Amino acid sequence: MRIKPIQTGALGIILAGLMIFSPAQADEFTKADLELWQSEFQEVVKKGRQVFTDPGLGTNGVVCAQCHPNGANTHPETYPKFQKQLGKVATLGEMINFCIRNPLEGKDLALDDQRMIALQAYIAEERRGVKLAPGKH
Ligand code: HEC
Repeated sequence: MRIKPIQTGALGIILAGLMIFSPAQADEFTKADLELWQSEFQEVVKKGRQVFTDPGLGTNGVVCAQCHPNGANTHPETYPKFQKQLGKVATLGEMINFCIRNPLEGKDLALDDQRMIALQAYIAEERRGVKLAPGKH
């Protein structure tokens, strides 16, 4: 059958549409990639555990682990959520800074500070497997 130009045009539009609206495709990666990324993540978790027990993080020698042994009662799975102390819907990082400012009498970390990322990686790793429950109290 001869395809008329009008049909080819319509086919082109359909194909373009399929390409635009197809589900997101991840890049290809190998087993070696996965192992590398996992070990990079675990390194950051390890650093987070150190920061969590570092008396130098604040100014009064108090450490996170005193009140949150093994990340207890940090509930990362509930973020973002409304935090009474902050008066707004806040992220886990903002709540970590609340505890740095108050019990530790320290200064806020930038949200992209390596120690902040490490603290979040450590806390999340301690709660691995807990169901996400954003906004929950
Ligand atoms: C002196 C005790 C104390 C120390 C030290 C402390 N916290 Fe907290 N933290 C609390 C209390 C109490 C709350 C509960 C506040 C609330 O949600 O009502 C809290 C809440 C949190 C939450 C939110 C928990 C939730 O259920 O939403 C996170 C996350 C957190 N702390 C992380 C940290 C980190 C990280 C450090 C170290 C930088 C730290 N805390 C140090 C007492 C402490």
